[in-house]
Amino acid sequence: MLVDVFEQYESEVRSYCRAFPTVFTKAKGAYIEAQDGRRYLDFFAGAGALNYGHNPDSIKHKLIEYLQNDGILHGLDMYTDAKGAFLKALQERILIPRQLDYRVQFCGPTGTNAVEAALKLARKVTGRRNVFTFQGGFHGMTLGSLACTGNSYNRAAAGTSLPDVTFMPYPFGAMKNIDTIAYIEAVLSDSASGVDKPAAMILETVQAEGGVVVAPVEWLQKIRALCDKHDILLIVDDIQIGCGRTGGFFSFERANIKPDIVTLSKSISGSGLPLAIVLLKPEFDKWQPGEHNGTFRGNQLAFVSATAGLELWDSLNIPAQVETKSAILQKELSSIAERLDPRIELRGLGMIWGLDLTPLKEPTLIDQVTTKCFEEGLIIENAGRKGQVLKFLPPLTVTETELREGIDIVEHALLKVLK
Ligand SMILES: Cc1ncc(COP(=O)(O)O)c(C=O)c1O
Repeated sequence: MLVDVFEQYESEVRSYCRAFPTVFTKAKGAYIEAQDGRRYLDFFAGAGALNYGHNPDSIKHKLIEYLQNDGILHGLDMYTDAKGAFLKALQERILIPRQLDYRVQFCGPTGTNAVEAALKLARKVTGRRNVFTFQGGFHGMTLGSLACTGNSYNRAAAGTSLPDVTFMPYPFGAMKNIDTIAYIEAVLSDSASGVDKPAAMILETVQAEGGVVVAPVEWLQKIRALCDKHDILLIVDDIQIGCGRTGGFFSFERANIKPDIVTLSKSISGSGLPLAIVLLKPEFDKWQPGEHNGTFRGNQLAFVSATAGLELWDSLNIPAQVETKSAILQKELSSIAERLDPRIELRGLGMIWGLDLTPLKEPTLIDQVTTKCFEEGLIIENAGRKGQVLKFLPPLTVTETELREGIDIVEHALLKVLK
């Protein structure tokens, strides 16, 4: 098959395929294979949806078994054994050990559906309309979540107003030089600030699309305290960096805080099947039956897969794996940056790292680097305010050899492009 079929028949809105213009047919572990037999190391991992890599055997076998038994595929929000098993596994393997008391809301199957539900619930619970979101944040493409997304290119495509949000500074770039917490506190405390008291604050503890920007632990704790003081709900959007990406199952564990609402999607299904959930403290479960719904909120195959994924979380001891491989990424990438150009900034934690080329002030470099990586057999994407951050998002199960292989490809690509 030629790429012409896509170029002729698919909308211009397609995007990642433009950077990786080949036809893929198979995938296993950290590798994805094209129809010409060429194998690519995948350091993009479905934009964070493939924390356990492509087609993990144990999940695949459970899915095949379920299909062969004529398990229910479409279940709306009926009680099914697949959903029950997932709810139980999530409680027993993840929530109870962390003393997290959350109910689970199933919504439409993509991340933005979870964000919409979380925003709607926060507004309903508090009776307030405004929401504080953070500069550089990314929360999805439907109108409510897009309103909370900073990216001007995506916002412009809305074609309508994106109301009832106020952007607050995230501790990054020029905002690092101001006391962002004092600023937010001042806005909340001043009855003449002109900013309506919000129902919630929504944030990523590491801005992923925003360019791998890690919020300091102390900052996250102060945000939690501010929300408590002013009776505001805290929503942590863990769609991209949850499910182990930062070391703990949830990204907020490192700050030892408990959000009121958490959104999860991407890797929660364990295999890339669509699934999104909202975790909410029971006291905020003010929904009336069916008040928020969606035809595909009962993706049974995704439940089967997610339950098997949580088993893998335990059996593979993912946090220990992340710790070891995070250290390799940090050491090797900082050494590359130092050797090639000390202006390149490295940021990240766990298994999400970014090499920020912004200070080089040569905007075309990044595309040359990702293109060169692709030619040499590595899929890696860029992120960031100006798209200048090379974002490392390998599967958490990548082997150390594969990890080093990918890092070597990046180093060669950078060497070629920066020479
Ligand atoms: C933090 C965050 N929230 C929400 C979303 C939206 O998820 P989806 O693309 O599945 O709607 C994304 C997607 O990248 C994300 O990274």
